[in-house]
Amino acid sequence: MEDKINRSIKYIDSLVDFSPDVGIILGSGLGDYVDSIDKTLEIPYEDIPELPVSTVPGHKGCFVLGKRANKNLMIMQGRIHLYEGYTMKKITLPLRIMIKKGIRALIITNAAGGINRGFKPGDLMVITDHINLMGDNPLIGPNLESFGPRFPDMTEAYDKELINTALAVGRKLGIDIKKGVYAGLKGPSYETPAEIEMLRRMGADAVGMSTIPEVIVARHSGIKTLAISCISNMAAGIMDKPLSHQEVVYTAKKIRPQFVKLLNGIVSSIKI
Ligand code: HPA
Repeated sequence: MEDKINRSIKYIDSLVDFSPDVGIILGSGLGDYVDSIDKTLEIPYEDIPELPVSTVPGHKGCFVLGKRANKNLMIMQGRIHLYEGYTMKKITLPLRIMIKKGIRALIITNAAGGINRGFKPGDLMVITDHINLMGDNPLIGPNLESFGPRFPDMTEAYDKELINTALAVGRKLGIDIKKGVYAGLKGPSYETPAEIEMLRRMGADAVGMSTIPEVIVARHSGIKTLAISCISNMAAGIMDKPLSHQEVVYTAKKIRPQFVKLLNGIVSSIKI
């Protein structure tokens, strides 16, 4: 595993001398955020040795390196999901690269289905905690001692200070930001109404198919992590209509201006 990470990093280092401060992972329909930063270089995943390639529409699949508010950003424009058939280790390899390159904070974004009836499509939710129902863990197998401990603590997986920063930036910009628990499932089929009712009773406010592997890997290395869900649709059975990926990408695109403002406000305010 470490050899693979080193091989990928060697390739990136051969292209550019860059030390990132903050890592960002952009979810479904949110990839356009990169247009608001001062770009240094784009590196398609397919050019990087060992990296899996994203197969989902709405996920571009490249690293974008650049600057915003005096911070060096390393951005994953598009992520890989478990349902694409890769292992959790493989899908978190791009994040391991960002960690080894030296990021000190991570902002994760995703599109999620709203379970909490107080939410509506187009809302933004800061994740306060998660429920891992993906039936897997990216840390299974020999522990990467140079990254972190065998049994990482997950009590405060989502950094309180970063959550408060995101809420404060939202208030300043007049964006109402929700807070809630994210349940992660493997997908790719959306949930049934009965499954959503189960998740609601468990205490989940939103549901998605990503983020959890990345948060576990980030916490393993003690990286301060913030995660924001774009509520792209109400989850199955909450409203009387079927779900579609088109709706997910459409809603995420619609809130892009708010989302970009919020993300840039957070990047400016982050203390690292
Ligand atoms: N369920 C699971 N994943 C999702 C959803 C959903 O309703 N919306 C966006 N990602």
